[in-house]
Amino acid sequence: MAGCGSWLFFLTVFAVSLFGANAEIIIPVGKVFTHELMRETFRNDFESSTRLYTGRWYDVPIIFKCNMQNFPDLPEWLRFTQRHPFDNGFLYGTPTSPGKSIIEINVINKQSYDTFRHTLVIRVIPEKMLPYQAEFFIKLREIEKVLPSSVQNEIKQDLQKLWNTEALEIVNITNALDRGGRVPLPIAGHFEGVYVKVGSERYFSKCLQRVLTSEHQRQCTAGARVKVPGGCNFCSIPSNCITWCKTALFDLTKAEPEPPAPTMGSGILESGGEFNPPESPPSRDYFPDYIVTVIVPLVLAIILCLLLAYIMFGRREGVAKRNARTNQIQMYHHHTVHGNTDELRIMAGNRGVSPPLSTLPMFNSRTGERASPLPSDSIPLIMAQHDPYSDTLPRK
Ligand SMILES: *[C@@H]1O[C@H](CO)[C@@H](O)[C@H](O)[C@H]1NC(C)=O
Repeated sequence: MAGCGSWLFFLTVFAVSLFGANAEIIIPVGKVFTHELMRETFRNDFESSTRLYTGRWYDVPIIFKCNMQNFPDLPEWLRFTQRHPFDNGFLYGTPTSPGKSIIEINVINKQSYDTFRHTLVIRVIPEKMLPYQAEFFIKLREIEKVLPSSVQNEIKQDLQKLWNTEALEIVNITNALDRGGRVPLPIAGHFEGVYVKVGSERYFSKCLQRVLTSEHQRQCTAGARVKVPGGCNFCSIPSNCITWCKTALFDLTKAEPEPPAPTMGSGILESGGEFNPPESPPSRDYFPDYIVTVIVPLVLAIILCLLLAYIMFGRREGVAKRNARTNQIQMYHHHTVHGNTDELRIMAGNRGVSPPLSTLPMFNSRTGERASPLPSDSIPLIMAQHDPYSDTLPRK
């Protein structure tokens, strides 16, 4: 059966490579599916244009964008990964239900930005789930390094020895980052990690059953190095070695425990009978609320209004009174100003009287001597002074 399935698969892959663009791949439910998008095959499509530019062949960065036809993303079970434009891309995943998906692969030349589109039809056919499954964590790997079929076979061979059976299929391959793993430091020796799940018709081997023992679980929770008997270590390549403490066994033949029946909460009606709506709640007296929210603020507002009005008009009266008083003062001022002007007029009438000596220029206050203001330019500063008396003095 399995051999027949894989022959079918190889035939379809062969057909794919023959007919290129519109390939159809037939895969069974519950087995891992990987499809490598080879840069080599797609590069030829760009080659003519790149040759035109350079006249020689060189490596072209190519990226792939994959989506389900008429949808923005891939089907739920299918993932795409490509580490770098100079690496191949991979479509991978495990279908869970039969059906047909049309995948569009847009190939983009990152140098010339030429693009073209391939279509891939994936037909998923039903198949029985493998009853015994085990999941292994491979710490020293990255998803792209595990997906090439050669590496998958290496890992499968090791696990076949561990399981002690040839009848083993890889069921699922997942990136540890998709399961809450951390992005490793960019240092040699740090890897993202990959989970590989395999399934078989055969029950777990003695080595695998060790995982179920309480001793093994105690060692793992204590964080100690798990001691595995030498006969159970089958990693031919160090980077394919499994992490024993992250190994999990799934026995799908055991019926899943029934989920507990839901407990009924209150408020669920008895079946049958009519629905009697509850009585409308007793009417409530809203008058106190009305008083508090409307009347009290209104009264306060009115009081404030009156207070403000009183202050405004009362104070205005006061202002008028004060104004009257200032008027009186101003009147008195006016009167005195009149008097003063009269006084000044009288004084101005007596201008003939010689002004006090101290107001005269060239008056020596100590000797009382009066220098005769010589109309010479030896004292130009003083002459230049704008003295109201400077005109009259020489005449005197
Ligand atoms: C494969 O693994 C991924 C990640 O753990 C999970 O989401 C998916 O359901 C698995 N598929 C199957 C068929 O078990």
